[in-house]
Amino acid sequence: MPHEIGGEYHLDDFPCRDVDPWPARRSFFASGRAALGALCRRWIETHSHARLWLPDYFCPEVVSSLCSRNIRVAFYTDNPQRAGPELSHLYVLPGDMVLAVNYFGVRSGDQWSAWRESTPSVALIEDHTHDPQSLWARSSRADFAFASLRKTLPLPDGAIAWSPRELSLPEAAPDGPPIGSSLKLAAMLYKRRYLDSGEIPTSLKETFLELQKRGEQILPEPNNEAISQRALSSGTGAQRRCRQAAVHFLACRPLPVQCRLCI
Ligand SMILES: Cc1ncc(COP(=O)(O)O)c(C=O)c1O
Repeated sequence: MPHEIGGEYHLDDFPCRDVDPWPARRSFFASGRAALGALCRRWIETHSHARLWLPDYFCPEVVSSLCSRNIRVAFYTDNPQRAGPELSHLYVLPGDMVLAVNYFGVRSGDQWSAWRESTPSVALIEDHTHDPQSLWARSSRADFAFASLRKTLPLPDGAIAWSPRELSLPEAAPDGPPIGSSLKLAAMLYKRRYLDSGEIPTSLKETFLELQKRGEQILPEPNNEAISQRALSSGTGAQRRCRQAAVHFLACRPLPVQCRLCI
């Protein structure tokens, strides 16, 4: 099998061990940014002046996508090399939203829980993309939480949103044909074939990279909100932890500050 480091998933079977159920009340979306955008949209319906506070270490494509959805953003200091966020940089006004990121799934969430209790007029949204099954994710008391499932599961698309405080959840707007997801699924199939072929270099690699690139351009567009049927049927029945891998990665290699967070 060719030796590949990182990159996007190939098509794979789901391991069925170490499984916890998803929250009973949840909404599925095509991508993490679609889930976050929809949660913000729901909050803004009743808080029209709300800004979304983001950590300054966050995927720039996701920030652009939020801006293209007309969400006003502001930044506070946080990154994976810190023990926790710099809450004194959070100049929130009543009705604002704050995104807390559990970088690599290794934080406890205690600092954010205490902050939320002392700041009840603000919506706390947690991003559990890096470990949707962490203890923090499962015991959260945030207003809303979401995770991009396509980052930790071999799915062509997919994200989940839930409300630990049982607030009303948005639904994904119905889409047209899931073209971005289909391209990404084709890329995953080609990558599987490439890995099985044992050949390096091979045109299969160029094919999966091209499909992958085109799918990734289309999938995050604002009009692609709904999870695909394929991701829904395969991704919601089984889950797997990637926590050990993330902890190991962090322990071995401190991240450069300028490193972009798109795993
Ligand atoms: C921490 C984190 N949150 C959210 C996202 C957005 O997920 P998606 O690419 O599915 O929109 C990403 C990935 O880009 C991420 O790394």
